Amino acid sequence: MTEPELGDLAEVLDPAMVVVTVAADGEVDGCLVGFHSQCSIDPPRYAVWLSVANRTHDLAQRADRLAVHVLGADDHDLASLFGGETGDDIDKLGRCAWTPGPGGVPLLDRCSTRIVGRIVASATDTGDHDVFVLDVEDATAEAGVTPIRLRQVTDIDPGHEATERR
Ligand SMILES: Cc1cc2nc3c(=O)[nH]c(=O)nc-3n(C[C@H](O)[C@H](O)[C@H](O)COP(=O)(O)O)c2cc1C
Repeated sequence: MTEPELGDLAEVLDPAMVVVTVAADGEVDGCLVGFHSQCSIDPPRYAVWLSVANRTHDLAQRADRLAVHVLGADDHDLASLFGGETGDDIDKLGRCAWTPGPGGVPLLDRCSTRIVGRIVASATDTGDHDVFVLDVEDATAEAGVTPIRLRQVTDIDPGHEATERR
């Protein structure tokens, strides 16, 4: 399958968009992520793929945990902040309300549908996005949340292109 066809498939699948946050060595960051999925039932595990171009990836390599927040249909501003800006340029967590969770991982106050998990595996030979597998410590699903989807955020230019190398 060619790269453009894969892009078309992503639009057909139209994944829910999430924000992955991280804390490491006293620093915090987070980015908008479309590549994510539950990857085990027992034990409960969730996987996210982080671009090697992103500062969030840098911090994740030094972190114990990640938090995965489901954005609602009204959260385009958060999608824009976390997907269109990079922590290399601005303090994204300084521009939204959050509370430190386990190990200091930022929990976005507006996004109560979320997962917090401990990083138990990662792989760096997966392409331009490395996979981080989370052992789920806490998962909260708010009834009635309608996630914002890929097709609703195609106006956002990523803070880092995935093909960039740091
Ligand atoms: C629609 C969309 C989907 C994205 N999906 C991912 C993704 O799955 N994984 C990822 O690491 N970055 C993804 N990004 C890119 C990051 O969110 C973006 O480059 C961000 O600015 C990186 O911030 P950071 O450098 O502070 O980590 C996506 C961006 C957009 C606009």
